Amino acid sequence: MRTVPFMVILLLVTQPAQADWAGAPGERTDSCVICHSTLSGRLFAPVFQWERDVHRTAGINCHHCHGGDPSNMDSALGHTSGFTGVPVGEEVVDLCSGCHSSAGRMRSFALRIDQDALFRSSDHWPVEGQGKNTPTCTTCHGSHGILSQEDPLSPVYSLNIPELCGSCHGAGDWGTDIKEGSSPPWIFNSYRTGVHGRALLEDLNLRAPNCATCHGAHSTAAPPPELTPAICGRCHMEETRYFNTGPHRAALNVVGEPGCTGCHEAHILESPPAGMAIQAALETCPGCHPEDGKALQMGRSIVTEMEGTALSIDSLRRLREDISLRGFDTLQVDLLLQEAESWFSQILPAFHALSTDRIRELTGMTLDKVNAAEDLLQALSMELSMRRLGLLVISLLCFLTICLLAAKLRLLEKMEKDRKLSDLKDSADNQGGPSP
Ligand code: HEC
Ligand code: HEC
Ligand code: HEC
Ligand code: HEC
Ligand code: HEC
Ligand code: HEC
Ligand code: HEC
Ligand code: HEC
Ligand code: HEC
Repeated sequence: MRTVPFMVILLLVTQPAQADWAGAPGERTDSCVICHSTLSGRLFAPVFQWERDVHRTAGINCHHCHGGDPSNMDSALGHTSGFTGVPVGEEVVDLCSGCHSSAGRMRSFALRIDQDALFRSSDHWPVEGQGKNTPTCTTCHGSHGILSQEDPLSPVYSLNIPELCGSCHGAGDWGTDIKEGSSPPWIFNSYRTGVHGRALLEDLNLRAPNCATCHGAHSTAAPPPELTPAICGRCHMEETRYFNTGPHRAALNVVGEPGCTGCHEAHILESPPAGMAIQAALETCPGCHPEDGKALQMGRSIVTEMEGTALSIDSLRRLREDISLRGFDTLQVDLLLQEAESWFSQILPAFHALSTDRIRELTGMTLDKVNAAEDLLQALSMELSMRRLGLLVISLLCFLTICLLAAKLRLLEKMEKDRKLSDLKDSADNQGGPSP
């Protein structure tokens, strides 16, 4: 308990309580800015870019990064008093980390202070024998005009990250240098055409992962299979929950295979077309299991179970369509169909547990709803037949009545005719009688 106040005092002594820069927006009136504004090309560009830099807003001026005396307008061009010139390589990392790893300096900005430590342990930290051209802080963030990661114009804004990483891990200028190392140059294109890349870059779905979501922005490395359930599980919780109860979790703990990428390719993730998912399910298994082994037998029995259920739902959908086209209200059936579909949608995630029992439970629940819906449809179609029969009888009766009426009419007409004839005959008989 005693150590806590002691640590606080130590921090207050060793770190400046207030950051050693103004805090108010950077001075446009210091000598560096004034003189460099009159220069051109690479000597002017930093002034122009610094205008929109988050550092300027925080009161950080040229000399906070480059040293020198900002009040001196002449002596050796102001490049005195600890002027450090242009930092390169590790000097850049040291410069940025001088502030960004300092708890005291970052205290009031709610920013993390672990970028330096993470970066030095990443695959981007240059080591002997690696491909050339690994990035430093400024490759990804820029050196002037640095923006917050929330700013859509920042190269590290989530929608821009794939292009940033792809500028090296794509077929860009850096591709050849990376090829000298172990990393393939086509990753960006695989990602871009896969499910995640299309969701992020075409549908602008910010819930889809960018490169840094899976690899870390600063701790960048290719994750080993053991880490994939944790990485993918942040978004695909159901699949991961089931995976963690199955035999592959146990295998992963012992032999380090298979993680999520044992069956799904990390960058080319395909969304199977509707109905294809189940048939495709067993394609990856033979890569690790013998064709006639226990694992594949179990896989096949699960897939058969799933396929049967999928077919029942399909035929239910067709039946329902048929009935509703005849003008019947299928509301009750639709509710049951929805319930069946919702049970069925749990089956692909549940596949990851490779448990026949769990799959049977889910297909059972699905089929219960399908059967109930089918019963309802049967009742409806029975009603339809009864109505048809009724209609037939009524039409028949109508026909008969019409026939009877017609016959009656005929009879009446005939009687009338006969009556007229006999009248005519009577009058003729009267005229032809004996004359007086
Ligand atoms: C009176 C004008 C003037 C002032 C004031 C001035 N500079 Fe410069 N600066 C120059 C010129 C000209 C160059 C290019 C020639 C050179 O490298 O000395 C230059 C170059 C630089 C370079 C690039 C050095 C290199 O090696 O390429 C940096 C960084 C720089 N200045 C930063 C600063 C900073 C920070 C300040 C304020 C403390 C400052 N300058 C003040 C005129 C000035
Ligand atoms: C946040 C730190 C930071 C600030 C603030 C900063 N610079 Fe720089 N500057 C750098 C770094 C880092 C480089 C090295 C280039 C690189 O890695 O991209 C650099 C490079 C330069 C260069 C050389 C550019 C070249 O292409 O050769 C000049 C000139 C320069 N800065 C001038 C300035 C001036 C003028 C200001 C103020 C308006 C300023 N800088 C503010 C970090 C900073
Ligand atoms: C390979 C590219 C890359 C390199 C190299 C890199 N960063 Fe970053 N940085 C990012 C990305 C991407 C983000 C966005 C945050 C995220 O996605 O987690 C970020 C975010 C940040 C942030 C703001 C978010 C936070 O972590 O609080 C700071 C500050 C930062 N980086 C500083 C640095 C410093 C300092 C260095 C050098 C030691 C550095 N970065 C090196 C890519 C990089
Ligand atoms: C003099 C101290 C200092 C130096 C040196 C410095 N920074 Fe910063 N940086 C800050 C402060 C303070 C902020 C917070 C600004 C704010 O939020 O208003 C910041 C903010 C940032 C951010 C935005 C974080 C976010 O997403 O909100 C990035 C990115 C960043 N710095 C990168 C760098 C890089 C790269 C370098 C080296 C070229 C560097 N910084 C050098 C102090 C420094
Ligand atoms: C300036 C170019 C450059 C940029 C930008 C860059 N990288 Fe790299 N990256 C490299 C180089 C070079 C290596 C080392 C390759 C080697 O040794 O094969 C590497 C290594 C890696 C590795 C390890 C590769 C392996 O085979 O183990 C991963 C993962 C990685 N980068 C991901 C990223 C991500 C994610 C980003 C964006 C946040 C990014 N990189 C941005 C150049 C870059
Ligand atoms: C959904 C998570 C995820 C996303 C998004 C992702 N990766 Fe990967 N990446 C991985 C995994 C997992 C590996 C480990 C290799 C494996 O299991 O196939 C890997 C491997 C790599 C490697 C090492 C080379 C290799 O094939 O082994 C590089 C380089 C790399 N990724 C770069 C990138 C870049 C660049 C992006 C963005 C354009 C990106 N990754 C997007 C998960 C992802
Ligand atoms: C940041 C969240 C996130 C992470 C992390 C993530 N995904 Fe995804 N994933 C998504 C989103 C969102 C979609 C839906 C894309 C779409 O269809 O629009 C998706 C789609 C998928 C699909 C296609 C599913 C379908 O219904 O079409 C598969 C398979 C997949 N991801 C596997 C993985 C694997 C394996 C990993 C780890 C290597 C992973 N995901 C990491 C968010 C994530
Ligand atoms: C043993 C092989 C295997 C492993 C290991 C595996 N999956 Fe799957 N996964 C499949 C199969 C088979 C499907 C269904 C068919 C398809 O999508 O191609 C699937 C489907 C998916 C889907 C789409 C589900 C849907 O409802 O459309 C996601 C998301 C997914 N898996 C994520 C993961 C995650 C996360 C992990 C790791 C925890 C993982 N998978 C591990 C084989 C595997
Ligand atoms: C990347 C390798 C890999 C892939 C792909 C893979 N498995 Fe496995 N699987 C293993 C390992 C390792 C074990 C544990 C050792 C063993 O039992 O063979 C295992 C165990 C199993 C078990 C438990 C076996 C038992 O004896 O209890 C089943 C069931 C299984 N897998 C089914 C499948 C199915 C179905 C597929 C395809 C969808 C598949 N696996 C794909 C590596 C893999």
